[in-house]
Amino acid sequence: MKQYRFGVLGAGNMGSAIADGAVRAGLFAPAEALLFNRSAEKQEKHRREGYAVTGDYTAVYTGCDTVLLAVKPQNFDEILPVLAGCTGEKPLVVSIAAGVTFAKMEAALGADTAIIRVMPNTPLMLGEGATQLVKNAAATDAQLQQVRALFDTMGVTVVFDREEMLNEVIPFAGSAPAYIYAFADAMVQSAVQHGIAADDALTLFCQTMIGSAKMLLRRDKTPAELIRAVCSPGGTTVEAMQVLEQRGLYDILAEANDKCIARAYELGK
Ligand SMILES: NC(=O)c1ccc[n+]([C@@H]2O[C@H](COP(=O)([O-])OP(=O)(O)OC[C@H]3O[C@@H](n4cnc5c(N)ncnc54)[C@H](OP(=O)(O)O)[C@@H]3O)[C@@H](O)[C@H]2O)c1
Repeated sequence: MKQYRFGVLGAGNMGSAIADGAVRAGLFAPAEALLFNRSAEKQEKHRREGYAVTGDYTAVYTGCDTVLLAVKPQNFDEILPVLAGCTGEKPLVVSIAAGVTFAKMEAALGADTAIIRVMPNTPLMLGEGATQLVKNAAATDAQLQQVRALFDTMGVTVVFDREEMLNEVIPFAGSAPAYIYAFADAMVQSAVQHGIAADDALTLFCQTMIGSAKMLLRRDKTPAELIRAVCSPGGTTVEAMQVLEQRGLYDILAEANDKCIARAYELGK
């Protein structure tokens, strides 16, 4: 056991949210976690919250059982060579950086370093995340389960057994919040054109999204069956659905997803 159970290298939006979520779930106390920030203000904020803080990221790597790498992907070129020089027992490494591959991290840290790549999405900050995980060859199933349990406290998780699936899944969870915000924005703008206050439209549409998601998650009816249940023959919904179909909604989404995935592979090169 090292001095700290959990360390965050880059306690920004996601890194802090994950540490806070784990503390809320009682997985460790703030004093058992060491958070790295460059800025003195952020260090002071985290110190007031009860965390141990440091401005030296090698201290996180050498002093914590598990280290969350939560810096931006472009910072890895600077950070990995420094971590590679650290001596002592290696921590379990958890990376949330999009596109930074096992090969890249192992080349610097050693192929014997246990690494779990995790792709969370921003609703994790409200405990409603949809997170995907994959382990490298050096990580054990028990380590994967330990990290999965951490993210289970902040939403749902899915484990993949091949690294490339973290790219293939990006449009469906990591990037999907943006699609959903665009859909909500378009619906609210249209509602305003029809004399409905934007705030009322947002309230009604968001509750409709929550309710519809819950209907889908019951899994007793397929999406097509649920659509048919709303589309009375000769009614209003059927008119709307015909426009969505004629304008190619499914094709548009499939094309957007293909582009999104292609970009994930490009970023990983
Ligand atoms: N946001 C998302 O939706 C999302 C979803 C999935 C995965 N991710 C991944 O999460 C990671 C963090 O994203 P974020 O949105 O939380 O970013 P963020 O708020 O900007 O946090 C980045 C952290 O990295 C630190 N940092 C920046 N440059 C550094 C450097 N040169 N050396 C050392 N530390 C440095 C920052 O330090 P200071 O605190 O000192 O400024 C900050 O704590 C990224 O790799 C991203 O791919 C994000």
